Amino acid sequence: MKHLLSILDVEKDFEKIIDDAIAMKKNGYEKVLKDKVLAMIFEKSSTRTRVSFETAMQKLGGHAIFLSKNDIQLGRGETIEDTAKVLSRYVDVIMYRAYSHKNMVELAENASVPVINGLDDEEHPCQVIADFMTIKEKKGRLHGLKMSYFGDGDNNMAHSLMLASAIFNMEMEIVAPKKYWPSRHYIEMAERLGGKIRIMEMNENAGKNADIIVTDTWVSMGDEAEKEERLRAFKGYTVDENIMARAKPDAIFMHCLPAYYGYEVTKSVAHGKQSVIFDEAENRMWAQMAILKWSLDLL
Ligand code: CP
Ligand code: NVA
Repeated sequence: MKHLLSILDVEKDFEKIIDDAIAMKKNGYEKVLKDKVLAMIFEKSSTRTRVSFETAMQKLGGHAIFLSKNDIQLGRGETIEDTAKVLSRYVDVIMYRAYSHKNMVELAENASVPVINGLDDEEHPCQVIADFMTIKEKKGRLHGLKMSYFGDGDNNMAHSLMLASAIFNMEMEIVAPKKYWPSRHYIEMAERLGGKIRIMEMNENAGKNADIIVTDTWVSMGDEAEKEERLRAFKGYTVDENIMARAKPDAIFMHCLPAYYGYEVTKSVAHGKQSVIFDEAENRMWAQMAILKWSLDLL
């Protein structure tokens, strides 16, 4: 069974998935998922993940069912195990957006169809596949680039980006207040893959010569109770024109969205000429199409 719970699950096929997504975007696609059905369980809000998966299934000839946790029995106490077993009798793939990675793993262990992580507290692999597709489109390559990530260095995006950068031998800089540096576990995993990771607090060289400047919200879904503390801790970490000026002149700015302007990034950078945020958002759909094909052994 090919689950996509971590970006590491696609390590070997990562570039193949990206290339398929780029090819479908450029040349069109066949309805290879005719009559296939995707169940999408959402415990948290979503704009991009929901709409891109639903559209991806439709384009490939299949169908997607949106299941908000509160509308299914899972929200009333039915177990993850039973939910996984029941859904596996109806559908061909399950996508799950969860609060906890532990629940993600439990769903996958009990499903007899592939499970795709649509974000949890540890990783956001589908986003990072779309992001690396975007980087390849814009830069023509992945290997050897320098990525500088600013903000919460220990959230789902930071984790998946660190691992992905290691897979492609990128130079990765994490710029974050010490309290929000990546957990040891992720640093070690990235280093085992040969990753070149440098972790630092904000300083005048942060972002220097980067090909890619990236950030994410300071308050991820699930962190709302810490909002005030986080806004205080991340003060001074906003990606602005000064930081962009330290990067290479042709550097791109990335953000998975949703963005909170004036916090992790200024609106002028996010909507400026180096920004590729809406290409990333579009690429979620093309990447999703390739991910679905991969999970059903159709790639
Ligand atoms: N980037 C992303 O996953 O967006 P949504 O929360 O809108 O799905
Ligand atoms: N780190 C963010 C990503 C949102 C797509 C969150 O988990 O809320």
